[in-house]
Amino acid sequence: MAAERLSPCKVNFILNILGRRPDGFHELETLMHHVQVHDRLEFEIIPSGIHLTCSDPTLPTDSQNLVVRAAEKFFALSGVSQGIRIHLQKNLPLAAGLGGGSSNAAHTLLGLDEIFRTSLPTGELHGLAATLGSDVPFFLQDNPALAVGRGEEVHSLAPFKSLDGCYIFLVYPGFGVSTPWAYKNLARFPEHLNGRAGRARQLADALTRGDFDGAKLDFYNSLEAPVLEKYPLLKLFQRFMLENGAEVAMMSGSGSTTFAITESKSAGEKLAEKFRGKFGDSCWQTVVPL
Ligand code: C5P
Repeated sequence: MAAERLSPCKVNFILNILGRRPDGFHELETLMHHVQVHDRLEFEIIPSGIHLTCSDPTLPTDSQNLVVRAAEKFFALSGVSQGIRIHLQKNLPLAAGLGGGSSNAAHTLLGLDEIFRTSLPTGELHGLAATLGSDVPFFLQDNPALAVGRGEEVHSLAPFKSLDGCYIFLVYPGFGVSTPWAYKNLARFPEHLNGRAGRARQLADALTRGDFDGAKLDFYNSLEAPVLEKYPLLKLFQRFMLENGAEVAMMSGSGSTTFAITESKSAGEKLAEKFRGKFGDSCWQTVVPL
């Protein structure tokens, strides 16, 4: 028996960090939105074991890989006695702030639950997902979401009226950013480390009302402080995007991907063309509907 699943990525419209927690994580509130650019996971039931192969030879295929860790946890919880062969076709950039690895882990859990017909309760899948990473639970569901805690408490929202017809332009600059590094270096920017709670809900409400002009002021990412200081090129990307048709331009997650929102497909494609004219086409980039 075989099956396959697409594993999409996400961007953060706001990533508002509220302070450091005693467990070393950071308390935050974030508004996350899927972006339909995908990795692909292929599953095949085998008699025993977990065998992962990957199109990207630089990725580990042992239990350092979140896909293997997700499968291990699934088998331990479900008691399924067979094994699985998984192939990961990696299309998304790594250490990009797009949640690619988290999405792979969530879709491994969903894929295994489906192929073995285990119908694990949502709460149990969520519990497993949260142990794999803060962003993993978001990818168990398909809607935009407000996430709090360390990011694992997910509240699904209806699609945003403001974004009807909007497109998103993503640019990965060719280098990744380590998430622990970004969080650690936030300590040097106390005003961004200790954000005011309530901003993510405010942004969600404005996007739901269709008040895009009001909402634009509320897009924000605390982690830009350390990351843009280290990589000023990303600041140039944002400025160029805002001067060339973007309604919003900012970093996703802990970077390094910059994204721009445009009000139409043609504005998105025009922006991408101008961007390539200015910065060349060696960066990974794509324009897709939101
Ligand atoms: O949860 P996840 O494993 O994805 O987190 C990766 C790293 O990012 C953590 O080890 C921690 O350094 C940092 N992090 C954090 N606070 C969060 C989420 C992540 O400090 N809320």
